[in-house]
Amino acid sequence: MMKTLQLGTSGIVASEFSLGCMRTGGMTADALDELIATSLEVGVNFFDHADIYGAGKCEEVFAASIKRLKIDRSSIYLQSKCGIRQGFFDFSKEHILNSVDGILSRLNTDYLDVLLLHRPDTLMEPEEVAEAFNHLQTIGKVRNFGVSNFNPSQIELLQASLPMKLQANQLQFGIMHTPLVDHGVTVNMKHTNSVDRDGSDLEYCRLKQITIQPWSPFQFGFFEGVFIDHPKFPELNAVLDKLCAEYGVTKTGMAIAWIQRHPAKMQSVVGSTNPGRIKEVAEACKIDLSRPHWYEIYRAAGNILP
Ligand SMILES: NC(=O)c1ccc[n+]([C@@H]2O[C@H](COP(=O)([O-])OP(=O)(O)OC[C@H]3O[C@@H](n4cnc5c(N)ncnc54)[C@H](OP(=O)(O)O)[C@@H]3O)[C@@H](O)[C@H]2O)c1
Repeated sequence: MMKTLQLGTSGIVASEFSLGCMRTGGMTADALDELIATSLEVGVNFFDHADIYGAGKCEEVFAASIKRLKIDRSSIYLQSKCGIRQGFFDFSKEHILNSVDGILSRLNTDYLDVLLLHRPDTLMEPEEVAEAFNHLQTIGKVRNFGVSNFNPSQIELLQASLPMKLQANQLQFGIMHTPLVDHGVTVNMKHTNSVDRDGSDLEYCRLKQITIQPWSPFQFGFFEGVFIDHPKFPELNAVLDKLCAEYGVTKTGMAIAWIQRHPAKMQSVVGSTNPGRIKEVAEACKIDLSRPHWYEIYRAAGNILP
């Protein structure tokens, strides 16, 4: 059985990992149907989109697949994002409202369960965003709101103008990208891991009951590649091989089980287009990774403990 979590304090009971649809734009109808059907079969009920994925294509092909598979809209949660434009970020009321109309039309639905602001717009005027969010919630087009790639001060700034609570913050996190935890385990040291790059987002989001949604969980760097079986990371892969044999899971699965083991109750956004890998992740999330093994993987990824 897939474990579930509550998204923030929203009342949404979501699968502990979601399917990220960023890479689905070029899939054949059959392959996409199999990916979505498999995801539902293993218990994934939450799907992550953005208006820019495939320039809108990812949302369109997703809606077509949901129709072919005859999936009841109310049985799934749909999340999308807006705010990134060609060469700039835009949290203006007009852009948010237009974006949501585009998203709803492409996803062929009357409402979004969650709308995220994709990347901080430094020209953001919180009152203007509040007007847009209020309108969208009042007319029923968006039920819940969140952000992505925000630090705690940016969340506070926006939250201060909003009547509704922000429920999610989507951030890059995975075995090979751990700034969210690094500075917390090396507080006040002169090591580079000690640098707080995000304003203690992890602790802040836990305190405020904002669900962190880790993106690109299999990647290293900023879309540099997949760390699994990559020749750049022999030590990590050796440790993963050893522990995977012990727990009876694959490295793909372990990469997500490692994130899900963190008590912050994060909701990994898995971007695989391969149904087999989705099954491996669902299987691996059933294991109870021990504390020493969690830290062993963390150290094998090149991190220090004081
Ligand atoms: N908020 C943001 O700013 C932001 C940014 C980026 C992404 N996202 C969200 O996060 C989701 C995930 O991002 P992502 O797709 O970059 O990350 P990901 O889930 O880390 O990577 C998926 C990619 O890794 C490949 N892969 C996974 N396991 C593999 C293995 N064992 N061996 C070889 N290849 C493997 C997949 O190939 P296969 O398809 O063949 O399995 C796929 O190409 C996106 O869909 C999107 O929803 C959000």
